[in-house]
Parts: sequence; structure tokens; C-alpha cells
Amino acid sequence: MQFIDLGRQHALIADEVRTGIDAVLNSQKFIMGPQVSELEEQLAAFAQTCHVLTCSNGTDALILLLMAYGVGPGDAVFVPTFTFFASAECVSIVGATPVFVDVQPDTFNISVDSLTQAINRVKAEGVLRPRGIIPVDLFGLPADYDAISAVAKEHGLFVLEDAAQGFGGEYRGRRAGSLGDVAATSFFPAKPLGCYGDGGAVFMDDDELFERCKSIRVHGQGTDRYDNVRLGMNGRLDTIQAVVLLAKLKLFADEIEARNAHAADYTERLADVLTVPTVPSELRSVWAQYTLTAADEAQRNAIVGHLREQNIPVTIYYPKPVHLSTAYRLLGYEPGSLPTSEQLSRTVFSIPMHPYLTNGEIEAVTQAIREAL
Ligand SMILES: Cc1ncc(COP(=O)(O)O)c(C=O)c1O
Repeated sequence: MQFIDLGRQHALIADEVRTGIDAVLNSQKFIMGPQVSELEEQLAAFAQTCHVLTCSNGTDALILLLMAYGVGPGDAVFVPTFTFFASAECVSIVGATPVFVDVQPDTFNISVDSLTQAINRVKAEGVLRPRGIIPVDLFGLPADYDAISAVAKEHGLFVLEDAAQGFGGEYRGRRAGSLGDVAATSFFPAKPLGCYGDGGAVFMDDDELFERCKSIRVHGQGTDRYDNVRLGMNGRLDTIQAVVLLAKLKLFADEIEARNAHAADYTERLADVLTVPTVPSELRSVWAQYTLTAADEAQRNAIVGHLREQNIPVTIYYPKPVHLSTAYRLLGYEPGSLPTSEQLSRTVFSIPMHPYLTNGEIEAVTQAIREAL
């Protein structure tokens, strides 16, 4: 059994991908071939945003947006600590300071109370200038954007949705990618919509910001190709990756349905023995991960040990919240400072989740968990 079985998905698109890659080889348009803009149009239609720009990966997508906003030294950007490192790393890379915020124990997403406290603390200290918030759609579930946007508006901050795991999810009738002022996603192969290498995209409605992003994606290019008007990056998506994503997009709506059906099945089979993931009403997860919460660390480790003995793939996302990572020691966060995230790091584990799970596999995973308990 695979944690994420990309082989079963590939069997469905293999011919289309080969034909598409052959077309790229024949055209020799490896960079910015027409498939890239075709993909950008389809992604914008899917996410219901005015503009989409594809790019090299999800981390560069986040950096590109922060650069477009002009975020830099002296700026504070508020980030949940229970996330993948890149959600915060992007802030430091542009020279600004991530201010870590705790999450909700049930949805694993940014806590609006903790966010408000962090903003007020930074304002009272008067050292950093609050600029923006990066809510993360963790494990595929959108964060609470109505509440977050109200806080952002009150304090004059931008909202950058980190939809690296959330693309394909929904919040009150709106699609992930359209939930903040701007959004970033990742097409890393294991993501709900993944390519066959690295890839990413940014989403927005703002025309001016979009023009800046286009320029930054190609070394700050101006209208004259060799007169660069600002500093940028080499952040383009390869044409071959666009071919893969165009083929996978055709399956995506059905895959989201399948992921939701499998998640409902897991929940039905496990809700009486463990804390199953919460999906608030009017929200839809794309189930990048299906993550359970054990009663305590000992119980979590016993379950994980038993699953591994049975050759059932299991992963801990995330064993350490970002504020306690070695790289951020210099910011001086103490253990216990963001307690919900720290407790989740001790108690969560994720089980196999992808659209092509079989009933037999779901039965085997849930049976092994029940045995362990
Ligand atoms: C929440 C989150 N943000 C950002 C990223 C960065 O994406 P990438 O690996 O494509 O750079 C990832 C994925 O790895 C992620 O899970």
C-alpha cells in the first residue's frame, strides 16, 4: 500500500501525458510554451480569480507575492506555527520577520484569537511593522477567511492564502485560491493537484499586483526585455509540467469527490475510537492529508509503531511546530509558548489518502488502528 499512490493516477493519463510531452519536444518550446498560458487560464477559471501566474514551486509562489507587496526588513508577517516550514521561511527570505501564531485544535488552522493577540503584541512593542497574514489551508481544509479578513481589515494587513495543500477545497461557496487578497499554491507531486517535478502558482484579482508578479517571475523584466526595472527571480514553470497539470486537471473534480468519499469512510470507521478531523459547515476539504489526533503522545506512538509493523504507511505532519525549529531559535520562542500547536505535534498522525484508495485498503488501515488501540 502507498501513502499517496501516484501510479494508479498515472495509468489514467499516461497516453495523454506522453503525447503532450512529445508535442513539447517537437516544438522545442520548453520555457513558456503555449501550454503554460493555457494552464493559467484553466486554473483561474477553476479558482474563480481574475489572474493566475504559474511558477517554479510553492515556496517561490509565496516569495513572489511577498516581493510584489514589497515586504522586507522591519515588517512582521503573521504565520501559523503548525505548518510546513516554507509558510514561514518565505517571510524570512525577503528579510521580514515571521510572527508565529497558534492554531485551533479541531481544524488545525490559524486561531483568530491567537492572531489578534499577536498583532496587538507587535503593535504594542512598536519594533516591527505589521504587514500581512499568511493563513494556511492545512491538510486541505481552508482556514476561517471571514474572521481572518475582518481582523486584516481592522489592522490594514494583506491576507496571503497559503493554498499549497488546499487547492481544490472550498469555503462558503468560494474556491481555495480566491479566499485571501492573493494566494499561492504548490504542484509538488504529492499535492492534491501535483505535477511531475516542482511547480506552483499565484492567484489574485488585482491587475497592478499581477503585472508586478509577471515582472518578478522573470528577473524583474520591464517592457524592454533587457531593461530590468526591479529585482526578481527565475521563477517560471516548465512547459512539460504544464502538460502534466492540464491532463491532471481533467481528473481533478472527480478526484476531489473520491477524496471526500474516502475521508467520510475513514471518519465513520474511526470516530468512536480517535479524534477524527473536523470540517466546519459550509467548508470542503480537498484532503491533502487525513490526520487523526490521539489521546496523548504514548498512544500516538503506539498506533504509529503498530501500523509500521503491519507495513501500513503512516506519517507525522508535523512533529515539530515551526517556532521551535532550529532555524528559528534566534527568534527566541520558548517551548510552551504556542501550546495547541505543540500538543498537536505530539499527538497527530496521517494515514494513506489519495483518490484511488480501495475499500480493502481503507479496511486494512482502520482495522490496524483498531487493533493497536
Ligand atoms: C503549507 C505549505 N506551504 C508551502 C509549501 C511549499 O511548496 P513547494 O514544496 O512546492 O515549494 C508546501 C509544500 O511543500 C506546503 O505544504
